[in-house]
Amino acid sequence: MTTNRRSATWFAATGRAGMNHRSWMRSQGFTSEVFDGRPVIGIATTWSELAPCNVHLHRVAESVKRGVWQAGGFPLEFPAMALGETLLRPTAMLYRNLLAMEAEELIRANPLDGVVLLSGCDKTTPGLLMAASSVGLPAIMVTGGPKLNGKYQGTDVGSGTAVWRWEEDLLAGRMTQEECAFAEGCMSRSDGHCMTMGTASTMASMAEALGMQLPYSAAWPAVDARRYETAQRAGQVIVDLVEHDVTPAQIMTRQAFENAIRVNAAIGGSTNAVIHLLAIAGRLGVPLALDDFDALIRDVPTLVNLQPSGKYLMEDFCYAGGLPAVMRELGGLLHGDALTVTRKTVAENVKDAPCWNRDVIAALGDPFQPAGTGTAVLRGNLAPDGAVIKQSAASPHLLKHRGRALVFDSPEAYHRVAADPDLDVDETTVLVIRYCGPKGYPGMPETANVPLPAKLLKRGVQDIVRICDGRMSGTAYGTVVLHVAPEAAAGGPLALVETGDWIALDVPDRTLTLDVPDDELTRRRAAWTPPPLPATRGWTWLYTKHVNQADAGCDLDFLTGASGSEVGRDSH
Ligand code: FES
Repeated sequence: MTTNRRSATWFAATGRAGMNHRSWMRSQGFTSEVFDGRPVIGIATTWSELAPCNVHLHRVAESVKRGVWQAGGFPLEFPAMALGETLLRPTAMLYRNLLAMEAEELIRANPLDGVVLLSGCDKTTPGLLMAASSVGLPAIMVTGGPKLNGKYQGTDVGSGTAVWRWEEDLLAGRMTQEECAFAEGCMSRSDGHCMTMGTASTMASMAEALGMQLPYSAAWPAVDARRYETAQRAGQVIVDLVEHDVTPAQIMTRQAFENAIRVNAAIGGSTNAVIHLLAIAGRLGVPLALDDFDALIRDVPTLVNLQPSGKYLMEDFCYAGGLPAVMRELGGLLHGDALTVTRKTVAENVKDAPCWNRDVIAALGDPFQPAGTGTAVLRGNLAPDGAVIKQSAASPHLLKHRGRALVFDSPEAYHRVAADPDLDVDETTVLVIRYCGPKGYPGMPETANVPLPAKLLKRGVQDIVRICDGRMSGTAYGTVVLHVAPEAAAGGPLALVETGDWIALDVPDRTLTLDVPDDELTRRRAAWTPPPLPATRGWTWLYTKHVNQADAGCDLDFLTGASGSEVGRDSH
């Protein structure tokens, strides 16, 4: 019996402690060979019927188990907090760090030698990567895969992205509520996460670009047999990673993060990746700053023509060659020698990756959108610690714009008047929605891309500049400045804007300027009082007391960094 494994301190123990550890496990019907020193592999699953994007993960876990058994390991599935983006209030983002904390403690406290991370819906992927990073045991991710393309009235419709359009059509009188109800059923017609290049597809791609999941893993549709084949392979691979003691810190290096940031630009990925990558890097002690996201992508064109920035959906992306085709195309823009879970380098993994459809995955020399159209980082007296804008989802004519502010202290306050035909707004207005940051809402919801006022929609206006300290759904589009830091609730200058102020957005110059004299801002600051904390106890209180601002990844200040896998004392 091998005794040098971490799990052996539980299962190879003599006396009463060892009997306790083994006997209770045998109530599940395992034969005694499972305690012979083989790697014990945890399978952290974020399955839940309340997280519909992850509802098939218990079946994915069965495939992982097959692979672990095949490779001589002992698989044990356990639940980690499932975060369903569409149901959780006030926002699933409030609970990403709670999932990360829960999974970290479960991995560390149990007799595991390695872990397979099963995720899908937006926050489950970064949450589990943060957890695994803080523990440091060998780990591999298997995301659940996107839904099949939505189909409505003979055309493809993308998760989330279509809903924004249908809501505008409903407000403008172009669709009825009954038509919307029929259309929503056509949009979600299989298991899987959103099949646009929203946050879930983005973070699955980030996990693959970081080297933490197998090549092609991000794009196989949830119902494709190769999703399950990949899961089985991942079960074999985690045993190999344990045998060779390959840890997340060896894979997710600064080089790997630079690769991920560049891949995110090439795929037209979600702005939420900025926050999540900063948080994961913070767990690993990898130096990464908001400005890196701007600097690293200036020479990276968008290659992938997917909604919300483009036309196609993840199923098309899969058939066109998936992420390996993109990474092969990026070639020298990536660190090809970065290590991955295959124990091969990025360059080795993708060297033969074919592209089958240049309309979906463009060539580097003939890109879908030119270099420099990815997520830009803005600074100025309105965002001293930074803000971001997804250029590929914005209207080109608004990237340099000066307009008068129309200010709301919550998205709800705006929604109450959005349909007012007398609202004092036109196409030059800069709509400010504030108190939506990590402390303010709390959890930093995806409220930044509020629908346009009905008055403008009826006139055919399709976009105006919006500024918010919250986030935007990865499925959304528009000229929306996001993640303004510091947020209004933390006393950021956004709190001092008044309706009628002039605001200048200059994306080419990377500036966001509130055109109000300093002495006037000083006067307003003296009159400003911070809002009360949204909770006086429980998780929300803990979160708002300790959450970092968006430019630092919104982790809790006491969760950044790692603690290793040591469990300390054993009372058994
Ligand atoms: Fe779960 Fe979009 S709502 S991935």
